[in-house]
Amino acid sequence: MSTETSDRVPVSTTGLEASPVGELPPVGEVPEFMHAQVIRQDRFGDPSTAFLPEVVRTPEIGPDEVLIGVMAAGINFNNVWAARGYPVDQISTRQRRGETEDFHIGGSDASGIVYAVGSNVTGIEVGQHVVTHPGCWDADDAWVLRGRDPMIAPSARIYGYDTNYGSFGQFTRVQAHQVLPKAAHLTWEEAAAPTLVGTTAYRMLHGWAGNTVSEGDVVLVWGGSGGLGTQATQLAKLAGAIPVAVVSDAERGAYAEKFGAAGWINRNDFGHWGIPPLVDDAAGQKQWTAGARAFGKAVWDIVGSRTDPAIVFEHPGAATVPTSIFVCQPGGMVVICAGTTGYDAMVDLRYHWTRQKRFQGSHGTNDVQAIAYNDLVVQGKIDPALGRTVRFDEIAEAHARMGRGDEVFGNVVALVGAAAPGSGRD
Ligand SMILES: NC(=O)c1ccc[n+]([C@@H]2O[C@H](COP(=O)([O-])OP(=O)(O)OC[C@H]3O[C@@H](n4cnc5c(N)ncnc54)[C@H](OP(=O)(O)O)[C@@H]3O)[C@@H](O)[C@H]2O)c1
Repeated sequence: MSTETSDRVPVSTTGLEASPVGELPPVGEVPEFMHAQVIRQDRFGDPSTAFLPEVVRTPEIGPDEVLIGVMAAGINFNNVWAARGYPVDQISTRQRRGETEDFHIGGSDASGIVYAVGSNVTGIEVGQHVVTHPGCWDADDAWVLRGRDPMIAPSARIYGYDTNYGSFGQFTRVQAHQVLPKAAHLTWEEAAAPTLVGTTAYRMLHGWAGNTVSEGDVVLVWGGSGGLGTQATQLAKLAGAIPVAVVSDAERGAYAEKFGAAGWINRNDFGHWGIPPLVDDAAGQKQWTAGARAFGKAVWDIVGSRTDPAIVFEHPGAATVPTSIFVCQPGGMVVICAGTTGYDAMVDLRYHWTRQKRFQGSHGTNDVQAIAYNDLVVQGKIDPALGRTVRFDEIAEAHARMGRGDEVFGNVVALVGAAAPGSGRD
């Protein structure tokens, strides 16, 4: 069902005070208020000042929703964007949809304990240890009812970015289908690390029929040491493909190799980034093409043959898309989920159509993909790539570092209900 604000009911006990950060009340007892890291419109800008800790009312839940006590919250780039209020002001966008809150509680990855379930929810019990996936949508969306991929539906949203009450509060509200079992062998912070980036990478590599990752494929992974990159590398390796990482220094290259990269390229060794000279600038084009060719050769040197990437795993966007499309194999796919360096990219159509390459957008995850990805984590086949664990009061600074590109070793996680790192293995 689409959850109208009016369908939601409080599950908290009036007068029950917020627990201190670092602990949660007895399972099933929901306080009226909770601590959260909150973004408000008058603070939009650098994440270091956009987030502030506040005490807010614990969210109500609708019949198809679940309330989770958050033990740890994964930090993702999407709440760098939310803090900046750019390119989307999420608070105004939600208010236009009829939601009344004038604040944003982000956080698209949670590990935690189920505290309450809506009246229609089956198969999820209070007390279960769970993680969340980030894809949500209205079940009564006409597109979803037609059985189409719900992550393409008009109502599709990313939890804890497009939606409020993400995992940077002591309690988070999710749709029941987003709830997945927590891998028993992982700590709370490990479990909260990978699901948003991992499910996104899974959809990018396995979701686009005709160009799904196959044994022997060369897969070029931009940002090989980052959140998406460490997951894409592992998923490609698991499929028998050959992941080649692109990074900006040797330490990041070594980190990418730890997760299965066959080798790494330092993008600072090349200078042809961004939009190439236009087609009628023959000399400029020649120079740009020489740079792109040298980059392609660096891929060959790692692979040990003149094999171009069958899949290019894209997210930097403007700076790299022309190169990604240039080096992609004929019939191959550049699959993109972001434009971190900018949204204006150029495609030289002459080569695009004659070499019959695919430039595929990808966003979030559907349930089937999220379950398939989480199964790999539960089976221990995918490492969550936990880079650093921070305190609840360091959530703002962790986003600021990520926004500056300082924080690029796997995934950063903040403790919320967990008092210290290392707990939560079942
Ligand atoms: N649509 C979706 O569903 C979805 C899901 C997850 C993430 N995203 C988006 O994807 C982007 C990356 O997310 P993430 O979690 O992987 O972030 P991250 O861990 O901070 O990694 C960002 C990576 O970008 C690379 N990079 C930075 N500047 C670059 C440039 N000029 N050229 C090439 N690479 C550059 C960095 O590597 P080096 O500097 O070492 O090269 C770094 O590894 C963000 O914009 C995020 O919002 C979208």
